[in-house]
Amino acid sequence: MTNPITRPIDLPSWKALQTHAAHMKGQHLKDLFSSDQDRFSKFSIQHPNLLLDYSKNLITEETRAALLALARESEVESWRSKMFAGEHINATEDRAVMHVALRDNSGKPILIDGVDARPAIQAELERMRKLSEQVRSGHWKGYTGKAITDVVSIGIGGSNLGPLMVTEALNAYSDKRLTMHYVSNIDGVQIAEVLAGLSPETTLFVISSKTFTTLETMTNAKTAEAWFMAAAGDRAAIAKHFVAVSTNRKLVTAFGIAEENIFDMWDWVGGRFSLWSAIGLPIVLSLGYEAFVELLQGAYEMDQHFQSAPLEENAPVLLALVGIWNRNFLGYPAHALLPYDQCLHRFPAYMQQAEMESNGKSVNWAGEAISYGSVPLVWGEVGINGQHAFYQMLHQGTDIIPADFIGSVEPNIVVEGHHDALMANFFAQTQALMLGCDADQVRRDLTAKGVPAARIEEIVEHKVHRGNRPTNTLLLPKVTAKALGSLIALYEHKIFVQGIIWRIHSFDQWGVELGKVLAAGIQPELNLTKATNPGHDASTRNLIDYYKRAKAN
Ligand code: F6P
Repeated sequence: MTNPITRPIDLPSWKALQTHAAHMKGQHLKDLFSSDQDRFSKFSIQHPNLLLDYSKNLITEETRAALLALARESEVESWRSKMFAGEHINATEDRAVMHVALRDNSGKPILIDGVDARPAIQAELERMRKLSEQVRSGHWKGYTGKAITDVVSIGIGGSNLGPLMVTEALNAYSDKRLTMHYVSNIDGVQIAEVLAGLSPETTLFVISSKTFTTLETMTNAKTAEAWFMAAAGDRAAIAKHFVAVSTNRKLVTAFGIAEENIFDMWDWVGGRFSLWSAIGLPIVLSLGYEAFVELLQGAYEMDQHFQSAPLEENAPVLLALVGIWNRNFLGYPAHALLPYDQCLHRFPAYMQQAEMESNGKSVNWAGEAISYGSVPLVWGEVGINGQHAFYQMLHQGTDIIPADFIGSVEPNIVVEGHHDALMANFFAQTQALMLGCDADQVRRDLTAKGVPAARIEEIVEHKVHRGNRPTNTLLLPKVTAKALGSLIALYEHKIFVQGIIWRIHSFDQWGVELGKVLAAGIQPELNLTKATNPGHDASTRNLIDYYKRAKAN
């Protein structure tokens, strides 16, 4: 990915989309629906594991054709082939991007840097299976001969959010033989509260870090080790209570974790795409190996769809293109992820890292500043809770925020009277955001309630919903491991397609480095015996001094 590169803004399709957008901005979604009864069938895709309805976007068939032309002119298909072929499309780190290899069950060799990765992937899966079966069955004994009851997963970012999100999502399928705990924050409160309820004799720590250098994880791992050693005394006991997942065996060994307890991952797996690797070990421990295989299978089925479906019927491609339409041509600054299933409550946080760490960039492949928007602000929360919090802004705020609504036909736990009530809201909200409610309708409704005409005129404008607010709806049959695997892979490929069109490197994350470097410099200054660096800007210097004065008192 070096010069010369094609810039999206120079493509004929980009220019056509700009002209087309000027026309579409004057349209209203409700009119698009009333003038075309086939809109749903035209703008929805049925994948075996999920339905994507993107019809409630301000698009027509002409829009879609132009967006597909943009994908073709951007050579999305050939870049897709390069990714699946293991080419070094992560150019700034000179790495392949092969998280897809981790779920490839075709049986064919997977060549990465000239080596078939399949045997190594299978070997790690097999080790995960064995460990989880031993621990879950109680055959794995702690240093006093007791079975493990609790697992503490220590990691942050991609080494935390994936396993956390998935184990929460599939908790209904867990036999609860083991209680899972996650520690990511370097704030000691989190680990202190987790450890307070545990016994060293029955706790297994999983230290997950691709690099094994991440400050938060290393600090928490050392605290866990000290807590454990205070009880166990003998370092030999560590082998029964600490396992690690990393690419960096040397550092893991130096930490004191037994060789046989180290699970490998590879540099061609990005942190935020790593739950499919041994980083998923907490998932296997919580749910059992079979559930993990189903998760991989769901992702594999989405990979196959992404590779083989024509672009016009390709769910990740369409999700990406509609996102680009909303971001680059209609100018919307943010994108909300609104799961309605409580079990998906960590999905927005997980996807926020995946989308924003991947595509939160402002230079193109050639290192030139880009003049168009890359990833919008991605955020979200369980939808039904949001309805009583921030949906006011979604319905009547000055900014239009497109949103993905994610729900399921069947809940993971059936409680009489709940699911239809939930789903009625799920369907009603996208309808309300789309249709809105004009002043005439407000007047009619208030008149029917007997509100005096003068009062109606005082409040009518406050009750108007302009509507025309785009949404995608994703409907899963049920949040099973397989459906969840497909859902995650759908978004992963959306991210890939958008990165290709924007001509940005989606698989590095240099933007997180500067803060880490500065924090490493500041930390020693926080010691009260040390002077604050006079070279800091006035704000930072005064804040540090204020903190130190307050700490001293
Ligand atoms: O700082 C960002 C980041 O590097 C993420 O990309 C990654 O998921 C996270 O930190 C954790 O990194 P590691 O797995 O190396 O501890």
